[in-house]
Order: sequence, then C-alpha cells, then structure tokens
Amino acid sequence: MSPWVTWPALTKFGSLGVMGALLVLAGQREDLLENNMFDMESWGEKNASIVCDERSHVARTEDGTCNILDNPAEGSANVNFGRNVDPASSFAESESGNLLTPNPREVSNLIMSRGGDFKPATTLNFIATSWIQFMVHDWFDHGPRTDANPIEFPLPAGDVLGSGTMSVQRTRPDPDVSGDESLVTYENINTHWWDGSQLYGSDKETNDEVRSFVDGKLKVDSNGRLPTDFLSGKPVTGFNENWWVGLSMLHHLFTQEHNAIADMLKANNPGASDQWLYDHARLINAALMAKIHTVEWTPAILANPVLERAMYANWWGLGGDRDKRDKFQDDLDELNNNLGELGGIFNLLGIDNDLGQGDTSSIEHALAGLVGSRTPNNYGVPYTLTEEFVSVYRMHPLLRDEIKVYDIGSNVVDEEILLQDTRNGDAEDLLTDVGQDRLWYSFGITHPGALTLNNYPDFLRNLSMPLIGDIDMAAIDVLRDRERGVPRYNEFRRQIGLKPLTSFEQLSSDPQLVADLKSLYNNDIEMIDTLVGQLAEETRPEGFGFGETSFQIFILNASRRLMTDRFFTTDYTDEVYTAEGIDWVEENTMVDIIRRHYPNLASSLVGMDNAFKPWGLKIPEDYQSWSAQAKQDHLWVNGALRTSYEDGEVPAIEPIDIGGLIDSVLWKKVQDATDVTPPGYSKPIHPRGALAKVQFVPTAGHGYTGLFQGADHGLLRLSVTGDPSDRGFAPGLALKLMVDGKRSENVSALYTLSGQGDNHNIFANELSNYVQPEVNETLGTTTLFSLVSRKPTLVVMSDMAKVNQDGSPVSNANTPSQVYFVPNGDLKNTISTAPHDFRDDLTALNPGTKVYDVYATSKSIKTSIWPWVTARYARERRNSATKVGELVMASPFTLSQFGDTGIFFKHQRYEDR
Ligand code: HEM
Repeated sequence: MSPWVTWPALTKFGSLGVMGALLVLAGQREDLLENNMFDMESWGEKNASIVCDERSHVARTEDGTCNILDNPAEGSANVNFGRNVDPASSFAESESGNLLTPNPREVSNLIMSRGGDFKPATTLNFIATSWIQFMVHDWFDHGPRTDANPIEFPLPAGDVLGSGTMSVQRTRPDPDVSGDESLVTYENINTHWWDGSQLYGSDKETNDEVRSFVDGKLKVDSNGRLPTDFLSGKPVTGFNENWWVGLSMLHHLFTQEHNAIADMLKANNPGASDQWLYDHARLINAALMAKIHTVEWTPAILANPVLERAMYANWWGLGGDRDKRDKFQDDLDELNNNLGELGGIFNLLGIDNDLGQGDTSSIEHALAGLVGSRTPNNYGVPYTLTEEFVSVYRMHPLLRDEIKVYDIGSNVVDEEILLQDTRNGDAEDLLTDVGQDRLWYSFGITHPGALTLNNYPDFLRNLSMPLIGDIDMAAIDVLRDRERGVPRYNEFRRQIGLKPLTSFEQLSSDPQLVADLKSLYNNDIEMIDTLVGQLAEETRPEGFGFGETSFQIFILNASRRLMTDRFFTTDYTDEVYTAEGIDWVEENTMVDIIRRHYPNLASSLVGMDNAFKPWGLKIPEDYQSWSAQAKQDHLWVNGALRTSYEDGEVPAIEPIDIGGLIDSVLWKKVQDATDVTPPGYSKPIHPRGALAKVQFVPTAGHGYTGLFQGADHGLLRLSVTGDPSDRGFAPGLALKLMVDGKRSENVSALYTLSGQGDNHNIFANELSNYVQPEVNETLGTTTLFSLVSRKPTLVVMSDMAKVNQDGSPVSNANTPSQVYFVPNGDLKNTISTAPHDFRDDLTALNPGTKVYDVYATSKSIKTSIWPWVTARYARERRNSATKVGELVMASPFTLSQFGDTGIFFKHQRYEDR
C-alpha cells in the first residue's frame, strides 16, 4: 500500500475537493497540535527577571519577551527549542551509537553532491532562495558552535580532499539546562516570534545599533545603504551570519521599507515621538513580511490549489481576501450541504475523516483564518519553534553555485559571479558594482536549485568559514539532525502521524539512486537520514517544491507562529497598528515593495502577481486599457528583450509545418484580438523572424483615416514562410500598431504566396496585404485559408482606419483597399541575393533607418477569369497608389523567442471589414 498522503487527489474534484482537502489538512493540524507539541523550557526561571512595562503591551520588545503577558518569556530569545517528536524516546545520537553511521562525508559525496550538474526549480526564481534564508534568520539560529571536543570522522576512500579526518564543532550546549537533564535541549539565540528580528536584532544592544533614533527610522546613509562593520565589512543589522549578496538585498529592501513606513506614520501623526514611530513601523513591517511569506512565498514553492487556499486561509480565513469573501462563503455553504458526499470521497481515498460530526474546531480554524481579532491560542503548550522545524528548513540545495547578472530587461548574461565571491564583505561591494536593481532583476529571472538529492551546491561542500576553516555543509546538515535528536526519516514520519516506508523503491524511481541509498544505509530503511529521505521523496503533491514529510512539520508550525502571537491575533487591530498600518500590511505585496524602492524595475514587474515566480511577460487583465506606449514597452522589454537569443543560440529556420496549419490556428488567426499567443503556441508558418519597434510616420495630405494618420508605437516583424532551401525564399511582414486604451490593429503582407525563389534579399520586392491566388501554389495555403474566408489571400485594414492612436474613434473612416510596403532603395540595393540568413541583415540595421515607404490605393480589388486581365487590374491599382507614410525603425531588430512564438498578429478577414 502506498505510504503517501491521499488528500492531494481531492483536487480533481474541483473547488469542492479543494475545500475538502483543506479540511483534511486542518484536521491533520489539529491532531498534530494535540500530539506533537513538546515543551522543553522551565518558564518559571526564565520569567523570574522579566518586567513587562506599558510599552510592551502595545509594541514588540527587543528580545521578544512580553508577547504573552502571563508567560512573558514565551517565544523570546535564548529560550529552548521545543520538539515535535516525543523527547522521552530521546533520539540524540552519539559516537558510541550511530552518530557517524553512515559516515556523513560519504552521504555528502555520494547522494548530496551536485557535482556541476545543477537541477533548477523552474517554477520559482532565485529571490525565493534569499527570502527563505532571510526568514530563517528571523525565526531561529542555534548560535555559535563550541570548540570543545569536536566531532571527527575519517574522509572516505577516494575523497577529493585526500585522506585524514573531517572535524565539525558541536552545537553549543544549552547554557542553563534545567529540569530533566537526560533530555537534549538547545537554545534559539533569536526570538522565536515572527517579529523581523533579523532586521531589528534579538537584544537591546543590537537594536540600539540599528536604530537612527530619528523619526522612528533605521540607520542608512544618504544612498539608502546600511552601515557596515569595520572589520568584517558586513552590514550592521539584526542578524548578519552566513551573509551573501541575496541576504544583503533583502536587508536593504526591508530596512528601506521600514523607513518608508515610518515616513507614512509621521505624515499621519506629526507630533509622534521617535519611539512611537519606530515601534509602529516595526509592527507593520514584521506583519508585512509574515503576510508575504504566508500568501506569496509559500504558494510559490508549494504551487498547489489546496495549499494556496490554505495559506490564504491562514492569513484571511477562507474568505481569501477582503473582496473574495462572498464567493468562498457560497462554496462553504455548498460544502456544508455536501459533507456527506465528500465524506464518501474521503473514505474512497482511505482518508479517515469524520467531517460533519464531532470536533468542529479544525473546521472553524480553517474557515476563520488565524490572523486578526481572535485570542492567541497555544493549545496549552508555550510557543517556541522546534528542532524538527529547523531540520525541515535545511534547504541549501535552493542555492546556485553562481549568479548570472543581466541588464534590466535583457536575457543575455552580462557576467557570472561565483556565489562564494558574493559572501560577507564582498556582498556590499557587489551591491555597488553591479547595482541593486540589476541584481533584483537577475534574481527575478534565474531559477534556484530544486530540493532534491544530488543537488547540493558545490561551494557549500567546501565552504571557508572565518575562524573555523573549511567545512562541508552537506555533511554538517546530516550530522546536526543526528546530534540534536531529530529521528531518522522513517521514525520521523511515524512520530508525526505519517506512514513509514517499507522499501527504498518507494522513495525514488531512479535505479542508480536507489542502489546508492541501499549501499549507503546498508539496506536498512530505518537508517535513512531525515534530510536525505525528505530530499529523496519523489512522490509530492502536485506543484510542491518539497515533499509531505517537511510539509507535515510545516503546517503545524506555520500556523502556530500566527495563532499564538498576540500581535497577529487580539492585537492585530487598528488601535495597536493604526488603521493606515493595517492597510499597509493588507494592501502591499512583495511586487509593490520592490517597485517602490527600485522604480527602474516597474516595467519588468508588469503583470507579476507573485515576485517569487520567474519574472517574464504577463498580460494583466487591464492590459488593453493601457496607453499605446505602455503596451509597446511591455511587449518589447518583457517579451522581445527578455527572451532574445544569446549569440550562437539563434534557432535555424524550420520548414513549414503543414499539419500545424490545418489546426485551429487558422481560426485563431482571424478571431483572437490579443497581442500574445497562448502558452505553447508555435507558428506553423513564418516560424522565425526579426522584430523591431517602429513608427508609422504619415505623409501629409493623404485622405486615409485613423492609424493611417500616424502611429508612434508599432512592432514590425519580418520573416520568411519557412526554410528557404525547402520551398524558396518567401518574405512576409507583420505590423502591429498600438492604440491607447484599445486593442492593437494589425496588418500582414507578402510578396507572393510562393515567394521569390532563390533570391535571399528580404528587401528585394514590395510586399502587400493582397496577393494573387496562385494556381500552382505548392503549399495549398489558399485552399486552407479559404476555409475561413471568401478572400483567403487578402487581409483587410478597415479597423485600422476606424481608430486613432489616442483611441478616439473615426466617424467617417476612409480605408485603402490595398497597401504596398516598398523597401528602402538603399537596403534593396546593398543586401546580397545569395543564400544567407536574412536575420543577419536585419540585426545589422540601426534605429532611425526607414525600412519601407508605404503606398495605398482605394481602387477596389477586382479579378477576372482571365489571368492577364487580373494582372492588368493589379497594375492599375498599383499605379494609382500614392505614398501615405514611412515605417521607421525605433529600435534595432532583435531575434527572440517572443518574436518567434510569443507575439500574435491578428488577421482581419474580408468578412469582418
Ligand atoms: C550563501 C548562503 C548560505 C550559507 C553560507 C549558509 C551557511 C550555513 C552555516 C555555516 C550554517 C551552520 C552550520 C552548523 O550547524 O554548523 C547554516 C545553517 C543553516 N542554514 Fe544555511 N547557509 C546559506 C544559505 C541558506 C539558505 C538559502 C537556507 C534556506 C532555508 C539555509 C538554511 C539553514 C538552516 C535551516 C540552518 C540551521 C540553522 C540552525 O542550526 O539553527 N541556509 N547555514
């Protein structure tokens, strides 16, 4: 029988299934709260010297005391980690037992090492990596290790470090062991609360160093930069261990955010003191970070509909957000009416759930949300984070070994910096040399590593630590769990209410990995280390970046951090935060914050609703209402530039995909009024081209209306129908003219259907929106297009004449029947006709170059059964055409994925004129 949880299967039952799965999760959380919270602290002793003053009733204290007024040490700094597994069954391992079995370095070498083969997590960006370390530093740290009696083990045979031993310092023992001394306890040197202590410190002395004591602000210089420590070069901030540039970026961002909040508070409360402003700004900033983590980071890494809803529920209740409350209320009513039916589904899936009867509190929690206006509830166990919580956040494989730096908007790597060269004081130099906005952009578009085995960053396996020497973090991660009494994987699962595994094959389908695991753990499934098992889990709920074992710890602690904290429950109110403060928390997102402090990134962030997902072209719902320029910018920066091919990676021109042509694409071509294709679309004809921004500069005095009177924001794509060596060189043009507040207008033009033979000069011939049907046309496109139009070789332009570029309609539109794009003579005469890639000619042109004169006629298009008569009509139309304007390049031509597959040009049919 499968050992894995079954709730993910509910998602296939649509939104009711999602609700059902949520209730299962809420039920699980309830069980965990009952069975898996173990207190490891003697509160009486800790509380003895704490006095909660007036300020602590309405503000977070420096060391986290006085959040819970009748147990003031709860959750504060230097309080022991609790446990999620029963400490009475003590799992701490020593050298006389299994501490060194198997050899931690061997685990690292055999199944952790990335060995240069980076496996990306493609649904996330690299900001997600820095973010979680930034959060971890808010939540916990075991503090400096101790020098006494280090743990030593031999380097395995064949190790790249040679022979000898590896030495790891032990975790600092609990300085005031109290109570049962047989229980292994360790202190968290940071506050356990979600209170921004990574910025504000976990003691008064650190807090005094980071504050400016003016207007409630934190210390920054005139450039918004944090002061640095003279010796280490690292910033002065709340917690600056394991420092690298990703952390530095986040500390700068949220220090500046604190100061922006303080400015807002001061503007609303002009007489307020520095202390009042500081205390309120901290409350607001900390809650904002907690909200971003809950409703943005978590749904990005666990991209599953159930989880997303669950995290929204944690913050807002199942109402989702203030606006969507009604919709979910309806779903809930439906759910209540269907509990019986869903119960059946649960039984089918083997989920033991007695919904509808018995304990309603889990349902109540899932429905009501944890944040706001409820009394804090620690379920009878004083709040602390736990050793097992630390263990599941050992997410070092998220790190890359190098940072790729890009210019804003670009897809071309400008430089690569080894991650180890971004550490400690080097991080601050990089912020200056590379620029914070370029770094944010670069992190936004690159991926972190996937949380799997054989993906541990190489630099962390040979990490140089000041005053400590070189260490292997992968070996240390494994060793720490054993040392600190986090049980091995199978026991860990049993302890937290999951089923144990019965075979190695249940973990992974990779035979090599299974063989390695078996040999490493001597075929004993009970010996698999917790971290190894978690990273190996191949069966994961859909969209999950990590597996169910970590998730089980996560659902318990993530909720507890909110529901036990007075400032997220009873005191999450206008009175304590101020009304503007609550609005600031509720209404700002990570995207807003990045945009506020790095306005240059505004266009890179357009349409992004989650800053932790890879940044790219997103078309938001209100896109059509934007100005012509904003739409052109968006398609250009986030479409063309962002996906331009690197040198040497420009794809070859494929032959025409005739099968693809027959597809529904033809209908799409005439029906869709969009600028961007749906994901996965590829052009069956004209698959490769070059794209430039252009202006249509009108000639004075012609009578055609609307966009024929000028369009400043256009995109021009020049292409050939397919591989010229296959069916000859057949050039084509597509032009999109942007309109303020309305959809764009498009026109396409060809020379002839079958092209110009072996002449490879793209500017050799005039192109037109009307071409003659051809008797011998090999492709059969005429026949195909005639499925959707009576005039398959014509695209009409009446819509283009009906609207001006400022969006105003034209009352008496005057449309040409045919236009001619006449190539600039200089280009025509200088480009080679010999076989070569036409795209090279285009990318060599400079902005400002006129590419075409545009001629137009209003003579109607007539044909005859006699080809020579049809040809005469065509000649007469051409002779009557007058120049109406010029197409002038407003950027270079670029070759990009967007230009090839992303941009969509609608054809206007004769029937739709
Ligand atoms: C350049 C980046 C990083 C460096 C240099 C670094 C280094 C370290 C070091 C030296 C330790 C202490 C090892 C020990 O117990 O002896 C540690 C612990 C840890 N790291 Fe990282 N780390 C980095 C990034 C991250 C990231 C991205 C995460 C993601 C969550 C993370 C999560 C943790 C956790 C959970 C611990 C355990 C803390 C504790 O024992 O209290 N680290 N890291």
